[in-house]
Amino acid sequence: MEPLAALPAVRNDELDWDRFNPGSYRAHNYRILRDDDRQIVTRVRNFMADSGVGPHARGVDIGPGANLYPSLAMLPFCDRLDLIEISAANVRWLRRQGRWWHRFDRRWNPFWAVYTENAVYKDYAAGRKPMVEFGRKAVISQGSVFRLPRAEWDMGTMFFVACSLSTDLNEFHDAVHGFVGSLKPKAPFAAAFMTKSNGYYVAGQWFPAVPIDDVTVKRSLNDVAYDVRIDPIDSSDPLRPDVGMLLATGRAQGT
Ligand SMILES: C[S@@+](CC[C@H](N)C(=O)[O-])C[C@H]1O[C@@H](n2cnc3c(N)ncnc32)[C@H](O)[C@@H]1O
Repeated sequence: MEPLAALPAVRNDELDWDRFNPGSYRAHNYRILRDDDRQIVTRVRNFMADSGVGPHARGVDIGPGANLYPSLAMLPFCDRLDLIEISAANVRWLRRQGRWWHRFDRRWNPFWAVYTENAVYKDYAAGRKPMVEFGRKAVISQGSVFRLPRAEWDMGTMFFVACSLSTDLNEFHDAVHGFVGSLKPKAPFAAAFMTKSNGYYVAGQWFPAVPIDDVTVKRSLNDVAYDVRIDPIDSSDPLRPDVGMLLATGRAQGT
């Protein structure tokens, strides 16, 4: 379904995020491991494995929706993983899913398999059931990227959130700054973005986006981070042919 022709300007708090349908979102986006996600997992995996953080760190994933692969990137390095979501529907869904993680949710197997191609993750996985570990460490709570504590976490991920929560460019920057500002000085982070998106549908419900590019991301991150690297994710089989993807990694400046 294409975005509406005349796009309404929408701020984050004007949206009813409880209308987000996590089951549909997951089925549409993460039913299979696509090439673009494989590229992202590979880069985030190598970055986190080389970060020197852990094994008893605290990690945070902002706006997980129905996607566990960003927080799985932090599993070997953290004792606790905070998943912070604004949508009550997504929080409920994640908690419900959590009851089954101990049996290993096989749908994340292809994603986890890419992680374990790296020796750090492979060694961690030996003799362990990753989703049992994930279920033990994950703490799911309702909250907003605009109301995070400062300098709280040792590492963090935020995938397709800052670009996909309103049509307001100031809110994009506030979300990036809120996320990176919630990390301790030197904490490594990975953030993924859709570029040039005007919005997206989940189960027929339109959600807003702000059409950003690599320059926007760099400008925003340079205020709050260092060692920033931004990689375009090019795929012959993209999720949405009209929009692109970027992956940014770096370290928080801290305050
Ligand atoms: C496009 S989805 C991305 C979901 C997931 N991170 C992924 O990688 O597919 C955007 C997510 O941001 C969440 N979100 C929107 N506004 C937010 C806010 N102010 N704070 C935290 N999460 C928010 C939505 O509920 C939704 O789960």
